[in-house]
Amino acid sequence: MSKSISGFSKLSKSKKIDWIVSTYFSNAESAKNILIQYWNNNEKLQQLHDEFIENTITNYYLPLGVAPNFLINDKLYTIPMAIEESSVVAAASKAAKFWLERGGFKTKVISTTKIGQVHFKFSGNINTLQPFFNALKPKLIEESSDITKNMTKRGGGILDIELRDKTAELENYYQLHASFETLDAMGANFINSCLEQFAKTLKSEALKHQGFSEDERGIDVIMSILSNYVPDCLVRAEVSCPVEDLSENKALSGEAFAHKFIEAVNIAEIEPFRAVTHNKGVMNGIDAVILATGNDFRAVEAGVHAYASRHGRYSSLTHAKVEDGIFTFWTEIPLALGTVGGLTGLHPLVKLSLEMLHNPSAKELMQIVAVAGLAQNFAALRSLTTTGIQQGHMKMHLMNILNQFEANTDEKEVLTAHFKNNTVSHSAVTEALNKLRVDGEK
Ligand code: MEV
Repeated sequence: MSKSISGFSKLSKSKKIDWIVSTYFSNAESAKNILIQYWNNNEKLQQLHDEFIENTITNYYLPLGVAPNFLINDKLYTIPMAIEESSVVAAASKAAKFWLERGGFKTKVISTTKIGQVHFKFSGNINTLQPFFNALKPKLIEESSDITKNMTKRGGGILDIELRDKTAELENYYQLHASFETLDAMGANFINSCLEQFAKTLKSEALKHQGFSEDERGIDVIMSILSNYVPDCLVRAEVSCPVEDLSENKALSGEAFAHKFIEAVNIAEIEPFRAVTHNKGVMNGIDAVILATGNDFRAVEAGVHAYASRHGRYSSLTHAKVEDGIFTFWTEIPLALGTVGGLTGLHPLVKLSLEMLHNPSAKELMQIVAVAGLAQNFAALRSLTTTGIQQGHMKMHLMNILNQFEANTDEKEVLTAHFKNNTVSHSAVTEALNKLRVDGEK
């Protein structure tokens, strides 16, 4: 039976660990050793990681892999990917190579507007609120100038503030719906600071407003927060080539490949059960680069899936067609990213990943990330509509199974060779490994 604790956050790291291991583990010593094993010997580096969050007890590793040969708008990139799932980096690399030989990826940022809202309750109607808001708007902008001056100097800042009447959906509910340009910053802190200032100005000006009744003066601000739904922070990535160039071998013509591929995309466009898995494949590429570059994958995930449902039914994030003999495969996807601020200047591996990508602007990073998603989806659909996913996947999975049974280097070598010509399954690998070990003992 576990117990509650007060003052946990004030304990030292080692006292926190002592409490955890003595409360939850039958073998406290071994649990402690595992936690400590993941500490970094470099104390400064460890402290940096400890201070990213609260109550840190150790580090949680993810592999950082790279996918080379991405040609994007005629510039070559090696894309860093932090992900635990086998096959993803291999698939990205394969897709990159395939399209390298066919002109590469073309990308373009469509828009970069971000949104934040002050949600509030007002007991009067829009006819009294609107004139008050119209007069208030310059003051909202002026009173946030301390927060916005640097961003404005660099060309960003508040783009607009609208009053939105939501009373048809929720009694007395109105919004200040604000749009922002945050340049190379993801902008969460900037936007939230502006919104909290708008809320303050809104409340204090309402209290003084002669045109309001006593009740109307008491505007009730519910919350002020950015939106992770960013349909106007949009990037497009595409690949295209003559249909016949899609063929890699005589067994499958370019036309047959394109036909099946497009049908697979069409299915994801109209069938939500398939669309979710299809888009999961896109996000395999996107999240891995988002993580490697220190961006917020939860924000991106939430925004992307909302966008995939924008027509009222969850649908594919990618699209494909053949027109005049040209196969085109593309995505338009909302990505609110930053290349300054947050983890980008703090985490040494994030800095390294960004340098590997030629220190991109946020706009450039949007394009690289969209390409990673498109490439991943291309590789998945290519496998699914030709050989099936398991053939490649299980080969990659082999190493995970061998590691699970703590196979040594020699065993891995023998069994990797064996499974070049044999089907990988969990039981087949277990059996082959057992046999190898028994034979070794003889
Ligand atoms: C696996 O992580 C992702 C796939 O399922 C995506 C897809 O089905 O398109 C292979």
